[in-house]
Amino acid sequence: MKGNGENLTIKSMNIKQQLTNIFSGAFERAGYSAELGTVTVSDRPDLCQFQCNGALSAAKQYKTNPMSIAEAVCSALTEEERELLTVEAVRPGFLNISVSGALIAERLNAIAADGRLLMPKTDAPKTIMLDYGGPNVAKPLHVGHLRSAVIGDALYRIAAFLGHRTVSDIHLGDWGLPMGLCIQWIIDNNIEKFGNGELNSIYPAATARAKDDAEFAAKAQTVTRELQQGDEYYYSIWQRIRAVSVEDAKANYDALNVRDFDYWYGESTAQTDVDEVITRLEAAGLLKEDGGAKIVELRREEDNEPVPPIIIVKSGGGELYSTTDLATIIQRERDFAPDEYWYLTDQRQILHFKQVFRTAALGGFSGAEFTHIAFGTVNGADGKPFKTRTGGVMRLSDMISEVREKLPDPRVAVAAIRIADLQNQPTRDYKFELDKFTAVEGKTGPYLLYTAVRIASVLEKADGVPAAGTYTAPASGKESSLALALDSAGDAVLRAFAEKAPSAVCDCLFEIAGKFNEFYAENRILTEPDAVRRNSWLALLAVTRRTLVTLLGLLGVEVPERM
Ligand code: ARG
Repeated sequence: MKGNGENLTIKSMNIKQQLTNIFSGAFERAGYSAELGTVTVSDRPDLCQFQCNGALSAAKQYKTNPMSIAEAVCSALTEEERELLTVEAVRPGFLNISVSGALIAERLNAIAADGRLLMPKTDAPKTIMLDYGGPNVAKPLHVGHLRSAVIGDALYRIAAFLGHRTVSDIHLGDWGLPMGLCIQWIIDNNIEKFGNGELNSIYPAATARAKDDAEFAAKAQTVTRELQQGDEYYYSIWQRIRAVSVEDAKANYDALNVRDFDYWYGESTAQTDVDEVITRLEAAGLLKEDGGAKIVELRREEDNEPVPPIIIVKSGGGELYSTTDLATIIQRERDFAPDEYWYLTDQRQILHFKQVFRTAALGGFSGAEFTHIAFGTVNGADGKPFKTRTGGVMRLSDMISEVREKLPDPRVAVAAIRIADLQNQPTRDYKFELDKFTAVEGKTGPYLLYTAVRIASVLEKADGVPAAGTYTAPASGKESSLALALDSAGDAVLRAFAEKAPSAVCDCLFEIAGKFNEFYAENRILTEPDAVRRNSWLALLAVTRRTLVTLLGLLGVEVPERM
């Protein structure tokens, strides 16, 4: 355990970690194990800033009275440590801890002086393959595609910020029967030129026709198969369809500030590896004949719910969504050798990914860690999946337009949409409420932007940001709360990464903005007569703004100069 006196240690650790270090040492000196010294943020902020419950666990472990352990730990603190904090042992054995203004000031000045605001970077970078977006060619993006794009994009930014090697692939749905349907329709109707508008009516028209016209349906199936086998004419039409759809998807993603994908691969890209999937599964003795189809059994003793077999080859030939996903794993292993795979789709695909992951493991395709981040649905005010006023599927582009009507600045609109989504745990459903999400009050994107913009205008009026090292110490409880919230931002980013949930970053943003607005309401910063105090506050404001901008950036939200 390092002493707290070393500059380097102080710099790299937030206050909570420094306290954990101090209390681990004190527990040890008092004769108990160091792990008991874990310090957490207080759940009674009216009493103290931090707490340690180690004496209560120690009491069970060592069969002693918790209160006397807590007192012994307090007495074991060194004189130097006592200068940094106040601690009180309270019944039945809690340690209530608060830190000195000097410690807060030291940390805040260190944060102010660091380009990354002392947010940690990993020393064990991993290669993370992120599969999100996933729109389907020839079909317009709908509101269901919002979450995959927005959560995936935020996770990408968070992982990259922490120093991991990130690879994104949109994995377009560009290879199944919808392709054959569109191609056959385009041929039948002699369509020479088409843009996205036409394409979006071609697909529903062709699907409807296939329902009542068996001959058309059969032809579309043949076209699909021949396309997959490399027919050049069909392939040339397919390429145009794909290009039009990609352009449309890009426009939607641009409007949401989703960063460009590293790879615009799709189900089609995986075709060259489909044979390899079959060969490897066969070699591993896993492929079974089942009524003309080829399957892999996936049942396991420990399953609560049986996992049905995965179909690798349909009876009558032709591969499936699952086969393509397996082939894609082979391709990704070859091209990127990821340590982890993160897939983002809605919860209806939970079983699909369970089957794919199991098969990949059984077949020895990859030793990586596979995670399906399965998110909930975006609902309308009625609690059912979000629809248009006439009851149709809500297009993503229409949803964006509705928000833009209320919030013409694209950055503010992006903030409204993304923060509305990202503040929820990915697994939870949420209701899309236009008025609520676009308001400047409440837990919204515009509220966060407004807070950052307001700080910028104070700093501007004050003629800029004071030099690092100007922060003195908090002058009130509200001010300490703000400073400690800023100090916890790095933890929030780590938690978002560990839990694969950008909502942790969102929570931290609301915490900081809330604490800032409370602090700001009680102080007149620009007219403060004491120049030292005024500069100290301006330094605090500067760190607040940079933290907000940095965290918002991790969620793909940019802050405008004015609002
Ligand atoms: N295109 C799919 C859909 O709309 C999503 C693709 C997700 N990624 C994957 N590797 N299966 O449902």
